[in-house]
Amino acid sequence: MSMSVWFLGGALVFLGSLLAIAIGRLWYQQTLFTPYVTSKKDLRGTYVIITGGNTGIGYATAKGLVERGAHVIIACRSKEKGEAAVKDLSMEISKQAKQGSKQQIRGGKVESMILNLSDLKSVDEFINEYINVKKYPLDVLINNAGIGGVQLEASKITLNFLAELWQVNYLHPFYLTFRLLPHMALKSERASSKNGDTPKKCVINVSSVYHEHGNFDSKLLGATQCIHKTLLTAPNNKKDGKGSEKQYQASQSQMQLVQAWLKYYATSKLAQIMHVKQLCQVSRSHAPNVQFFAVNPGYCRTNIWQFDDLPWFAKVFTICVYPWLRFIWRSCDDGAQTALYCVLDDHASTGKYFSNCYVDRTLDSCQQCDNVQDCQILWQYSCNALHLPKSPFSSS
Ligand SMILES: NC(=O)c1ccc[n+]([C@@H]2O[C@H](COP(=O)([O-])OP(=O)(O)OC[C@H]3O[C@@H](n4cnc5c(N)ncnc54)[C@H](OP(=O)(O)O)[C@@H]3O)[C@@H](O)[C@H]2O)c1
Repeated sequence: MSMSVWFLGGALVFLGSLLAIAIGRLWYQQTLFTPYVTSKKDLRGTYVIITGGNTGIGYATAKGLVERGAHVIIACRSKEKGEAAVKDLSMEISKQAKQGSKQQIRGGKVESMILNLSDLKSVDEFINEYINVKKYPLDVLINNAGIGGVQLEASKITLNFLAELWQVNYLHPFYLTFRLLPHMALKSERASSKNGDTPKKCVINVSSVYHEHGNFDSKLLGATQCIHKTLLTAPNNKKDGKGSEKQYQASQSQMQLVQAWLKYYATSKLAQIMHVKQLCQVSRSHAPNVQFFAVNPGYCRTNIWQFDDLPWFAKVFTICVYPWLRFIWRSCDDGAQTALYCVLDDHASTGKYFSNCYVDRTLDSCQQCDNVQDCQILWQYSCNALHLPKSPFSSS
C-alpha cells in the first residue's frame, strides 16, 4: 500500500476519533446530565407571559408552569397557532390529572394573546391589551421567542432577514420588558393560595450557549446608535452605512452570508445576557422585588433547527449528521428545566446565566457579558433605537 493511502486512513481515523469524542461529550452533558425540576411549589395566583409559548421549549415551559397552577399567557404571532397550543396544553393537563400523574397537577389557566415581535406596533398593542384591557398583574415574563433557523441558502440571508432576527431575538423583547417592568414591579397584595407568599417576580431571557460566538464593537454601537450602521452594514458600505439588499447580497460570498447569519444569531443571544446584567443595575432601587435571569436550554429538537431548501452539499452533510444528533438532542421538556428552575427555586441568583439548573460560571464570565461598560452602551443604544427614556422608571 502506498504512503498516501496510509496517510488518508490515518487522517480519517483521527477525524473520526475527534468526532466521536465531541459527540460523546455532548451526549454526556446534554442527555445524561439533564436535571429535572421536582419543585412542588404552588403557583396559583402567579401570572406568566411566555413569548413563543405555542411550540418548542416555550410550550414545554408553559406546561411546567400550568401544571403547578400558574395563569400562563402564551404570546404568539398567530391566532390559530395560539389557540391550537391552548387546546393541546389544556388537554394534556386534564389527561395528566385524570391519570393521577406522579406530580400533583394543580391545573392553572392558559390563554393566548397575539404578539408579533418583528412589529413594534403589535408589541404596543399586546402591552396595552394586557395592562389596560385585561388588567392582569404580571409576575413572570419569559422572553423565549426566537428565530434562527438553519439558513444556508444565500438568497434568504438578506439585510432584512438579519434585521428581523435582531428585532425578534433581542431588540423588541427589550422593548417589551422595558414597558412591562414598571407594571411588574408594582407591589402585589395577591397571595398564592397555599402558603400566603406573594408570587416570585422575574424576567427570564432564553439565550444560548452559542452566545460565546457573539461580539459587539461597542465603540461603534455607542457612536452611531443605529443597528443598520453597525451590525448590519455590508463591508463595502462601511463608510456611510447605507447598505441596500442588492449591494449586500452581491458583496458577499455564500460562506460570508452564512457567517453573517451565525454572527447575528450569536450576537443576539449575547445581547440577551447583557440585557439581564443591565436590568439588574437599572432596577436595583426601583424594582428590588424583581429578579432577572438568562438561561441556556441546551440543544433541543425544535422547529428552530428546520432545514429549508438546502444546497446539495448541506443536504449530504445533514443526512450524515442527523442520526448522530438524535442521541445528543434534548427533548423540549429537558430544555424547559432551567427556565422552570429560575421561576421555582428561591435560591436562583439574580443577574446570572444558568445552564442545567445552575449558574454556569465558565460561560457566565464571558468577557463582554461581564463588561459593565459594554452592557451600559448596549442598553443606551437600545433605548435610543426604540425612542425610550433611559430608565423604565423615569419619564425622560
Ligand atoms: N432549540 C435549541 O436547540 C435552542 C438552543 C439554544 C437556545 N434556543 C432558544 O430557545 C428559544 C425557543 O426556541 P425553540 O428551540 O423552542 O424554537 P421554536 O420551536 O422554533 O420556537 C420559537 C418560537 O418563537 C416564535 N417566534 C418566532 N418569530 C416570532 C415573532 N416574530 N413574533 C413572535 N413569536 C415569534 C415562534 O413562533 P411560530 O411558531 O409562529 O414560528 C415559536 O413559537 C429561542 O430563543 C432559541 O434561540 C434554542
